Amino acid sequence: MLVDIQNLHIGFESRTGFTPAVKGVSLTLGTEKLGIVGESGSGKSLTARALMKLLPKQTRISADALTFDGIDIMSASEREMRQIRGKRAGFILQDPKYSLNPVKTIGSQVAEAWRTHKGGSKRQAAEAAVMLLEQVKIRDPKKVAASYPHQVSGGMGQRVMIAMMLAPDPELLIADEPTSALDATVQAEILRLIEELVSERGMGLLLISHDLPLVSHFCDRVAVMYAGRVMEEVKASELLSAQHPYTRGLLNCMPSLLHPKDRLPVLTRDPEWLK
Ligand SMILES: Nc1ncnc2c1ncn2[C@@H]1O[C@H](COP(=O)(O)OP(=O)(O)OP(=O)(O)O)[C@@H](O)[C@H]1O
Ligand SMILES: [Mg+2]
Repeated sequence: MLVDIQNLHIGFESRTGFTPAVKGVSLTLGTEKLGIVGESGSGKSLTARALMKLLPKQTRISADALTFDGIDIMSASEREMRQIRGKRAGFILQDPKYSLNPVKTIGSQVAEAWRTHKGGSKRQAAEAAVMLLEQVKIRDPKKVAASYPHQVSGGMGQRVMIAMMLAPDPELLIADEPTSALDATVQAEILRLIEELVSERGMGLLLISHDLPLVSHFCDRVAVMYAGRVMEEVKASELLSAQHPYTRGLLNCMPSLLHPKDRLPVLTRDPEWLK
């Protein structure tokens, strides 16, 4: 098993007291595609960040299990985490513009990412960079390699980030709203690319998104989160017919690329869900 999360609790200590944010989440992931959906603030990103030990200092965390490939993340040192983060597990974030260096060409940044993990000469790295750009289906990889980040579109920037992330051959890919800064058609293309790469390379995927239909299309299983808990976990193919009233509410209230609506109803919440 790649990821095992059991009874994960995350909360924040402040002058006014303790605020729980994640309240007993359990999830497992093998070489498969797991989607996490749920409204803003439901604890999706915190759960993913806990797995990479990327939580702010004032965070309190406890879990019966929190492991990556059997490694206990709770007790792992920063040095051990650096062997996992960006190497065995890649992170793709919302907006690539903040992650690319504006004063370096795209090719040199991808080459650097490759060389950090694989070694070799600068020339080999430059060649590998063009190959990686090709793998993320950039049509003119040499031209893009010579460009600076501001010269490419958001979708292209996201492809470059994915190419960099692929350099160390990670086993797990965590994508937290990887496409929400992009327009609709580009979003679908990037998700299709992620899905293809994950399947081809036999990686595990943790895909966090607001878009339920999109996630059900690209994942195998989906966990639906609400107020720090997993409300239900369903096969992706069954998401659109899920029975939990919160999931039904989400499905009705959320706009989707695949099923656009003119007007969205308002989600009603049942206090029972919090019990
Ligand atoms: N550093 C922090 N200090 C205090 N509270 C925080 C902190 N980070 C997150 N939270 C709270 O924890 C809850 C869960 O946050 P999280 O980022 O996991 O939500 P999310 O499901 O990813 O939402 P979104 O869809 O908006 O990204 C939120 O209510 C948020 O306000
Ligand atoms: Mg988030």
